[in-house]
Amino acid sequence: MNKLIVSLLLTLGISGVAHAAGDAAAGQAKAAVCGACHGPDGNSMAPNFPKLAGQGERYLTKQLKDIKDGKRVVLEMTGLLTNLNDQDLADMAAYFASQKGSVGAADPNLVARGEALFRGGNLEKGLPACTGCHSPDGKGNAAAGFPHLGGQHAQYVAKQLTDFRKEADGRSNDGEAMMRTIARKLSDEEIAAVASYIQGLH
Ligand code: HEC
Ligand code: HEC
Repeated sequence: MNKLIVSLLLTLGISGVAHAAGDAAAGQAKAAVCGACHGPDGNSMAPNFPKLAGQGERYLTKQLKDIKDGKRVVLEMTGLLTNLNDQDLADMAAYFASQKGSVGAADPNLVARGEALFRGGNLEKGLPACTGCHSPDGKGNAAAGFPHLGGQHAQYVAKQLTDFRKEADGRSNDGEAMMRTIARKLSDEEIAAVASYIQGLH
């Protein structure tokens, strides 16, 4: 693990706010309305709706707070979280975190380039490997709040990377600008390749 990542992990550990533990069983009922887009178990069918199944609880809770506060803009979810409190958000996060995520397939024409980038980064551009934070199998680091990526829809992943690059739709919500710094170094072709690779990763 490189020094940058170790120091980031330390910073996060020290400044990481304690959060209410969610109750997955209570969350299942509260999340009924979410299933229309994200799938009843969090495995959405539509490529622009992110899969939530198997995503880390800490990451999910943070995104829900950011979406509720309007820091991250998700028009499709307008008003949905308004009347929910922190415990409701934590419960729904715990429910989706407890579900098993499904995996898609990578485009055979993009897989080699995507894998090289995911696993090796790009030394010339000073781009770290994605594995450093999102782990070699794409599971992320739930305790640190680094999201699970493996099996996520390529279209959704590509949109997030483009959003981080442009700081669009409030995707300047990554603590320490970890993802913005990385996304700014990615070309459109690299985004397409790594997103496709992630869709098939498990
Ligand atoms: C009408 C469709 C729709 C409904 C209903 C909906 N969402 Fe979403 N949700 C979206 C879309 C679209 C995005 C991604 C937007 C983007 O591209 O950034 C999203 C993003 C998210 C994210 C961020 C995921 C990530 O990987 O960062 C979470 C968490 C989430 N939704 C949870 C919920 C929960 C919980 C509910 C129910 C209370 C819900 N959503 C209801 C459409 C919906
Ligand atoms: C230094 C650690 C670090 C590295 C290296 C890193 N990421 Fe991330 N990534 C993060 C963090 C932290 C977040 C969550 C930001 C937030 O809380 O909103 C994130 C979020 C993401 C998301 C959004 C996930 C979602 O569900 O919306 C994608 C996609 C992503 N990263 C892809 C990548 C790719 C591709 C690479 C390699 C080119 C990479 N990351 C390298 C730390 C990292």
